[in-house]
Amino acid sequence: MKNQTRSTWIASLLIFVPLTLPAQTTEIQEPHEFKASAESAHADWPAAPVRAAKGMVVSDEKLASEAGIEILKEGGNAVDAAVAVAFALAVVEPEAGNIGGGGFMLVRLANGQAKFVDYREVAPAGATRDMYLDKDGALVPEASVIGYRAIGVPGTVAGLALALKTYGTKRLPDVMAPAIQLAEKGFPVSERLSELLGESGSVLGRFATSRRILLKGGSLYEPGDILRQPELAATLRRIARNGPSEFYRGQTAHDLAKEIQREGGVITLEDLAHYQAKLREPLTAAYKVNGHDWEVITSPPPSSGGVAMIEALNILAPVELKSWDDPRSVHWVIEAMRRVFADRAEYLADPDFASIPVRGLTSLCYADALRRTVDPALASTSQKIHAGNPAAYEKPVSPSGGCPQVTSQPAAAANDAAAERALAETLHGGHTTHFSVVDAAGNAVANTYTLNDNFGSGVTSTDGFLLNNEMDDFTTRPGSPNMFGLFQSAANAVGPEKRPLSSMTPTILLRDGKLSFVTGSPGGPRIVSATLLSVLNWMRLEMNAQAAINAPRFHQQWLPDEVLLEPNYSDSVARDLEGRGFSIDSKRIWIGQVEAIGIDSKTGERLGAPDPRRNGVAASY
Ligand code: DON
Repeated sequence: MKNQTRSTWIASLLIFVPLTLPAQTTEIQEPHEFKASAESAHADWPAAPVRAAKGMVVSDEKLASEAGIEILKEGGNAVDAAVAVAFALAVVEPEAGNIGGGGFMLVRLANGQAKFVDYREVAPAGATRDMYLDKDGALVPEASVIGYRAIGVPGTVAGLALALKTYGTKRLPDVMAPAIQLAEKGFPVSERLSELLGESGSVLGRFATSRRILLKGGSLYEPGDILRQPELAATLRRIARNGPSEFYRGQTAHDLAKEIQREGGVITLEDLAHYQAKLREPLTAAYKVNGHDWEVITSPPPSSGGVAMIEALNILAPVELKSWDDPRSVHWVIEAMRRVFADRAEYLADPDFASIPVRGLTSLCYADALRRTVDPALASTSQKIHAGNPAAYEKPVSPSGGCPQVTSQPAAAANDAAAERALAETLHGGHTTHFSVVDAAGNAVANTYTLNDNFGSGVTSTDGFLLNNEMDDFTTRPGSPNMFGLFQSAANAVGPEKRPLSSMTPTILLRDGKLSFVTGSPGGPRIVSATLLSVLNWMRLEMNAQAAINAPRFHQQWLPDEVLLEPNYSDSVARDLEGRGFSIDSKRIWIGQVEAIGIDSKTGERLGAPDPRRNGVAASY
């Protein structure tokens, strides 16, 4: 066990513009050596990360990680490799990798520049607030989830092309070559893909092209069968040749708009032509932990994840965290999650349409106020905890210091019936995929992108690519949870050309000014918890990169008032948490799939930490 030396913690925060906040000094203990990962991880999970001197790619799929390394070895940078990985995943991980969806790419270059490429889907111009409601105001079952009306205008091709043009060094045909090969020649179907296709067979089977390509016309792909996707290969070839305009204005756009219109969807050719990926400023926050200066670079709205990450890290900053075998540490993180998700439900949305109190939500003074509402011995309830009052903390703190005195908090308490419905929804599956890349020069990419649910809307276009059901991430009906059990506010209502709120949280950490950790996860709202825990494990608990990924995870999202624990969680901790008043969900599920890269601060080696929960793969050189 490490020495129990004490050190100080000071945090300051930078949101868009550097802003000086009063220094806070709080004593925290160094973490105990992490035991739970060794004790509770599966015996066949790797204990140590993959080490490499130059480049590292960690993704869900071997063939995609290798595609990225191929590009790095050919002299491409991390962004070139990331674009290659993303296109490759669109072929080999069709349940989540995509060109018919959207996502976020966080880029941090070795020269210190950091940018967030927002290629989230948008609602088509013809979308309306009540488009998923019947005449009585009830949600039409499946309308925002399955089929043509569930599709948001895809952003992936525009986003990847924008990233490549802005930060890459290679041409689109070079970085798309591996994906085109994989689509044309085919690849062996994994056990997992075979299973997922089986699980989603009844939805995929409703759509002719999906049935033909993904269900072999009616029978299942067995593990080891070769999945060839010639239509997808042809589409990728056209995009490689003609650039992103092929997808938004060319033959692909015409084919897609015609099909969607014919089948009763909303997206038109104009919607595709108007799509724009955006470059945004990442959110950043700085912490001092155990004598090191840390900077957390993370996702701004329309992701809720970065705000949630910083808000939670701020709440937890002066709190002693020992390990996830320690119920008191888990208690604190659960209470932070509860408050962060209550705020998410109330305040987060597309920043181009709603005014979001980002500065207040991520202020240290606000975190202080929230922390004071936590009883470290007794669980709070989501009935009593409601969204806070971040507006009162929006103003920069005056140099004379001191946090504003805020007496009242606006109430937005949970409602029982709704919370019960949320519980039923929370365990819904769904898939997204995160990958991380670091090149020899130290450029880094964290990319999370998605079709939302597994295989998105279930629709495969006649040009061979699956289409998202991201419209379900909007508040399709106020007071009703979405497929992940999330309650969201009117600010996230459906609106033309609006981006639905996301939880995707690609995140990069610097330690003493140097690249240290690249992380992110799928999992709907569980993305926030899985990514937050990976950051806490690395930055606060000082785990090795692989232990930071293996460590058991837990999740609380305000509503329902339930704590999810992973299957490998120790029963004694679960009992202790129950004794503290937490309601522990009896179902144990895996939370997230974090594909991360650490940097060895002594040697500079890249430490590939794939998530063993679903056989993530690190490729390196
Ligand atoms: O953007 C979001 O938050 C969701 N569409 C992500 C969905 C997801 O992660 C499903 N995965 N397991």
